[in-house]
Amino acid sequence: MLRRPRRNRKSQGIRDMVEETRLSVKDFIFPLFLIDGINQKVEVASMPGIYRLSLDLMLQEIEACLSLGIKAFDIFPAYPEVKKDKLATESYNPDTFYLKAIYKIKSTFPEAVVMTDVAMDPYSSDGHDGLVKDGKILNDETLEILGKMSLAQAQAGADILGPSDMMDGRVGYIRSVLDENGFTDVSIMSYTAKYASAFYGPFRDALDSAPKMGDKKTYQMDPANYYEALIEADLDTEEGADFLMVKPALAYLDVIRLLKDNSNLPIAAYNVSGEYAMIKASAERGWIDGERAMLESLLSIKRAGANVILSYFAKEFGLLEK
Ligand code: PBG
Repeated sequence: MLRRPRRNRKSQGIRDMVEETRLSVKDFIFPLFLIDGINQKVEVASMPGIYRLSLDLMLQEIEACLSLGIKAFDIFPAYPEVKKDKLATESYNPDTFYLKAIYKIKSTFPEAVVMTDVAMDPYSSDGHDGLVKDGKILNDETLEILGKMSLAQAQAGADILGPSDMMDGRVGYIRSVLDENGFTDVSIMSYTAKYASAFYGPFRDALDSAPKMGDKKTYQMDPANYYEALIEADLDTEEGADFLMVKPALAYLDVIRLLKDNSNLPIAAYNVSGEYAMIKASAERGWIDGERAMLESLLSIKRAGANVILSYFAKEFGLLEK
C-alpha cells in the first residue's frame, strides 16, 4: 500500500497540522434577547443558558463576551402584547427601549459590532413579519414600515441591519432609505435564503412572537427548494446586500455551500434556536455529549462555507477557547 491516509491521523500534533477547518471566536455573531426594565434576567424555557436581559445586564454580558473576543451581537427585543399593533409602530418609536438600548450599547462599546433585526413580528399584533390585511401579507406596504424601522435602527447606531422578513424588494428599498438619509456606511446582512422552518420555535417563545394565524409559508422559502436560493441571492446582491445569510444552518448546509460557490459576498449562516435546543435537550438527558455535538455542528457550518455564524453557542464556544 503506497497510500495510507491514516498516517495523517496518527497523533494530535499531525491531526492539528492537517486540519482543514478551524473555528475562531471571530467567526461569531451572538444573538441576545433584550427586555425592558432593570436587573431583569429570565431564562428562555426552551433554550437553557440563554436569557432575556434588561439593558444593564446586557451591557455586562457584552463586556464579558468582548473579553472573550466575541465582537458582534444581534439584538432582539421582546415586547409585551400591549405594545404591539398591526403596523408595528413600536419598531420605530424614537422613545422605545430597544432603540435607546442600541444607542447605549454602541456608545459604551464603540468597538462592538451591533446588528439589528428588520421584520415586523416582535412588534406586530398579528405576529407576522409583514403587514396583514384580510388574511394576506401585503408586500409593498410592508416595505414602507421596514424602511422606517431600518432608519430608526441606523439612527440609533446599528452597524448592520438584518432584514429577516423575506418580502420581495426589501434589500433595495432599505438600501435606498439608508442612503437617502446619509447612512451609506450602515451594512445590510440579508436573510437571503430563510426557510419556513420548524426550528424557530424556541425563538418565538423567547420573544412571544409566534404568528397569531396561519404560517409564514407565503414569504419564507419552502425547505424542498435549493435553486430558488440562487434567485434570492442574485436579487439581494443586485439590491446592495453586503452579506448573504442562510437560515437555519444545519438542515441547509447544502444551501450554504451553494451560495458560497456562487457569490463573492461573505456568507453568513444562522444556527437557529431549535438547533441549539436540540443539542441542549439531548445533552441534558445524557444522550449525547453536548460540548462535542456543539463543536461538530459549528464546524460543519464553517466547513460548508459560512464566513460568519450567528449562534446561541457563541459565548460557550468563547469560554471553551479561553
Ligand atoms: C424574525 C426572526 C425569526 C428568527 C430570527 N428573526 C423568527 C421567525 O422568522 O419566525 C429566528 C431565529 C431563531 O430561531 O433562532 N423574523
